[in-house]
Amino acid sequence: MNEFFQRWNLDPQKLPRHVGIIMDGNGRWATARRLPRVAGHRKGVERVNEITEFAVQCGLQALTLYAFSDENWRRPEEEVSALMSLLRWYLKAERNKILENNIRFRLIGDRGKLSSDILSLATKLEEESSSNSGLNLCVALSYGSRGEILRAVRRVLEKVESGELYPADLDEQTFEENLDTAGLPEVDMVIRTSGERRVSNFLLWQAAYAEYFFESAPWPDFTEEMFATLLRDYSSRERRFGRTPEQVQQRPEGDNKRTNSPARLSSVKGS
Ligand code: IPE
Ligand code: IPE
Ligand code: MG
Repeated sequence: MNEFFQRWNLDPQKLPRHVGIIMDGNGRWATARRLPRVAGHRKGVERVNEITEFAVQCGLQALTLYAFSDENWRRPEEEVSALMSLLRWYLKAERNKILENNIRFRLIGDRGKLSSDILSLATKLEEESSSNSGLNLCVALSYGSRGEILRAVRRVLEKVESGELYPADLDEQTFEENLDTAGLPEVDMVIRTSGERRVSNFLLWQAAYAEYFFESAPWPDFTEEMFATLLRDYSSRERRFGRTPEQVQQRPEGDNKRTNSPARLSSVKGS
């Protein structure tokens, strides 16, 4: 086992493939320090870099970060524009690091609501990193799961209308291919910082069988240590996907992975 896993006491065989993080609590972090809310968002970007690097070292396949929800457009214009400026800055400043670290960048969410310069920065980075084979880094921006599902339904209906797809052929896997997260593994683990225990319209389809973790620290205080502790907790959970504990224990190590959907369950049966 390499030094990194030893140092953090992590078992690489028992890590999630795809982690989603609801990065909440920037505003409260700042308010508690009598700082403007945007100071919390700035600090939050530092954590994004640190946690992304950690995810790369863990060898995770995908990390989805909830940066701005569809509902966040309701915030005061000043805060929305500060968040968009930070994002612009992030896309420019982190480009090289993303490419050097073999990270594949992807934006998920309602692209139609984003300004054209942000969209072109993000699209360029998606293209430039498209052949990278390391961590899939998804930034959920102007993202809402219900909206994403509706966009997928529209795509499916268009395919049916054009004769590309028969309604009877629509199964879970075909549907998934029409979501913004197409091609990524299912979400195994969702973390929400800052104490709130809600999902706030994040990856409802993809995280249908995820393990949820609620961390009391606000996002600007979320450390590698906390992430490692939650990952160890994740590794100790028994993921049954509907089976009995006896059935799960009889299966060889790792065989319980990638079996979330009924279609995949039957395909690994007896293996
Ligand atoms: C999360 O922090 C960042 C975004 C939603 C953009 P918040 O800004 O929601 O911080 P709190 O929840 O108000 O503390
Ligand atoms: C969820 O946080 C969205 C992000 C972290 C980007 P919010 O702070 O917007 O969620 P609610 O409003 O508390 O549910
Ligand atoms: Mg919040």
